[in-house]
Amino acid sequence: MTTETARPAPARSTAPASDDTAVPYAHTRLPDAERELLREVLYEVGTDPEQKFILGRRTAELERRLADRAGVCDAVACASGTGALTLALRAVGVAPGDEVIVPAFGAEPLAATVLGLGAVPVFADVDPVTMVMDPADAESRVTERTRAVVPAHTFTAMADMPAILAFARRRGIAVVEDAAVAQGATLGGRAAGTWGDVGLYSFFPVKPFGMPGEGAVVLSDDAELASLVRRLRNHGQDGVRRFVHHEVGYNSRFDEVLAGFQLARLHRADGMVARRAAIAEQYNARFAALRERGLLAPAPGADGRCHYVYAVQTVCRDSLAAHLAAHGIGSRVYYPVPLPRLAAFAAYAGEGARARRPGAELASARHLALPLHLNLTDRQVARTADVVGAFFD
Ligand SMILES: Cc1ncc(COP(=O)(O)O)c(C=O)c1O
Repeated sequence: MTTETARPAPARSTAPASDDTAVPYAHTRLPDAERELLREVLYEVGTDPEQKFILGRRTAELERRLADRAGVCDAVACASGTGALTLALRAVGVAPGDEVIVPAFGAEPLAATVLGLGAVPVFADVDPVTMVMDPADAESRVTERTRAVVPAHTFTAMADMPAILAFARRRGIAVVEDAAVAQGATLGGRAAGTWGDVGLYSFFPVKPFGMPGEGAVVLSDDAELASLVRRLRNHGQDGVRRFVHHEVGYNSRFDEVLAGFQLARLHRADGMVARRAAIAEQYNARFAALRERGLLAPAPGADGRCHYVYAVQTVCRDSLAAHLAAHGIGSRVYYPVPLPRLAAFAAYAGEGARARRPGAELASARHLALPLHLNLTDRQVARTADVVGAFFD
């Protein structure tokens, strides 16, 4: 399939307007009830006689609750998804000179964290339809230096975890499951983030259980691995004796105010994911008929779906984005260029056949994300679908 242009459309932003006109792409306004909650938690933590602001009892309780919900033995809260990825890679033993297989289409920290540890990112192609790591291509890139593979759930699709686990076990490499965007998703009844040797969720504001601040959690069902992560997030200390450092670690600790906030709204997490899924279903129902006219919508259903970003694909991506903008509807191109073609990572792109990643090229050239957030009304979703439909008429 040819593409209209290899150059991405810029992110389109729209000014807030009434429900009938503009539809903002992203809208992270805290609901009024959550503003009040944030104020209450801030006051409670600020006036708590304990005066413990980092890694206190609220963080410990949040970790327990998240581990229970996911069905793993431990969860370790830390400072960001990027920090979580670094901790997870370190915990599975990634060291200078190792190779780590990451998707060629995805977020920059997937490769940057590997380089930060002195290891080498090896970019696997993605499936052009689901836009997640192609397990066969990933396995073809395993060498004797490969230490880990990092499947990342992307947009609305979880990576093919059974296939990735199967080759990783066969080849003796660790699986770091980047579920930064997939909290609340399940595949075959098993929670995202619990398939790998270690997994993670980000709480960055726009993520499914995003919060007003930075943070993340690392999950593992391996108690030793989890306690290594626990030490690494706090400069290698074991939480029992201060200033005794077992490893060289990091400052990737978690804030008590944010822990209190996340705990108080944890009962809403499933509802938040369900609302995102309902919006995606509303789009899917409208877009099924447009397939033969050149609009590829994400696969319907609930199994293996994460509903973080609703991205359609079309060879007319840039003109669709312009058409939406002309009607006051925001859209976004996330990864306009595959990671190995970015200046930052070009040195690791490989050569000849190894540098060919047609799935990632197609995903970069064709995807366009439509509004999917908790402040969208059904009418706004319907209007967005109408305007997309009119483009293909
Ligand atoms: C797949 C993936 N991994 C890691 C991260 C980093 O998360 P954070 O922004 O919390 O550092 C992101 C951020 O978007 C992501 O999409």
